[in-house]
Amino acid sequence: MSEKFSFEKLGQDGKARTGVIHTTRGDIRTPAFMPVGTAATVKAMMPESVAATGADILLGNTYHLMLRPTAERIDALGGLHKFMNWDKPILTDSGGFQVMSLAGLRKLTEKGVTFKSHIDGSRHELTPERSMEIQRLLGSDIVMCFDECPALPADRDTIAKSMRMSMRWAQRSRDAFGDRPGHALFGIQQGGLEQDFRQESAEALREIGFDGYAVGGLAVGEGQGAMFGCLDFAPDMLPEDKPRYLMGVGKPDDIVGAVARGIDMMDCVLPSRSGRTGQAFTRHGVVNIKNARHQDDPRPLDEQCSCPACSNYSRAYLHHVYRSQEMISGMLLTWHNLHYFQELMQGMRDAIAAGTFEAFQKDFHETRANGDI
Ligand code: GUN
Ligand code: ZN
Repeated sequence: MSEKFSFEKLGQDGKARTGVIHTTRGDIRTPAFMPVGTAATVKAMMPESVAATGADILLGNTYHLMLRPTAERIDALGGLHKFMNWDKPILTDSGGFQVMSLAGLRKLTEKGVTFKSHIDGSRHELTPERSMEIQRLLGSDIVMCFDECPALPADRDTIAKSMRMSMRWAQRSRDAFGDRPGHALFGIQQGGLEQDFRQESAEALREIGFDGYAVGGLAVGEGQGAMFGCLDFAPDMLPEDKPRYLMGVGKPDDIVGAVARGIDMMDCVLPSRSGRTGQAFTRHGVVNIKNARHQDDPRPLDEQCSCPACSNYSRAYLHHVYRSQEMISGMLLTWHNLHYFQELMQGMRDAIAAGTFEAFQKDFHETRANGDI
């Protein structure tokens, strides 16, 4: 535990919180959205452009970087921040979740998981100890515990066994992480949608003690209603004075609903991935730029957006470069989407601080539905 990493709560409105996470690489304003930089890049974006959208922190992935270019190589080259030219905080996921969703043949035991690389089929092993070592070699500011997340739906017995193993792995992660001033370790709550298992998991994590606490095992196909049902109780079980991170979420309305339930940090590939597939999030809904009805439209994507795509280009141009498969298409739409997500976070931070989060949510749902426009 480090005094160089701290969470300062600045305001609360209902269950929604706003504050700042202080780190040696700079402050993270919360609620925070973390763009995903899986392979040491936020795809289609220069790091300075990612910072210009308002991002205070990026997410990187143990699984991808250990396979290519390898953690040892990144360490020898001066660490992930220097390697990818991003000097603000980086949070790294621990690898287990990605092994389960991406790797080929894999074998899970109490020790950890062995798997085949999705890149070249080579065999690898990840354990709590190895995951902590890789995240240390990368130079990650916020290290995630090595955990396991069962695919839902699963029966209660499977969920309980998996959660209890993740809690033993959380203790091993804590022991292997050691004391590293300036670097934080987050625990990950599991337990599926079951309130009693979420409680048991939260108690196990609190007993070990972490710098922050994640809600894992959600957004895995259960649907928004079930996810919100779980978020109605899961964050309340985690320490009030530490950041709470909902992993892998989500769509704009998922994010607003999660913040309303006490979540402080989130990450998702959605804004960057959608940017490369021609989908733009706007305050009026989702625009599919590939649609032919944009081909003669001189208006910007979103009149009120100040990003480069909206300031300098028409929908007709964005449609044209998408159809022509020009690289600038993914660049402009990704920039716009990341800008939109960060503006959404800023809007929530302001509303929570002002005590107007209820009105913010009402306005959001009236104007910014996820539907296509
Ligand atoms: N990303 C999305 N969900 C999870 C989870 O449950 N665990 C980890 N480690 N990463 C995630
Ligand atoms: Zn824009």
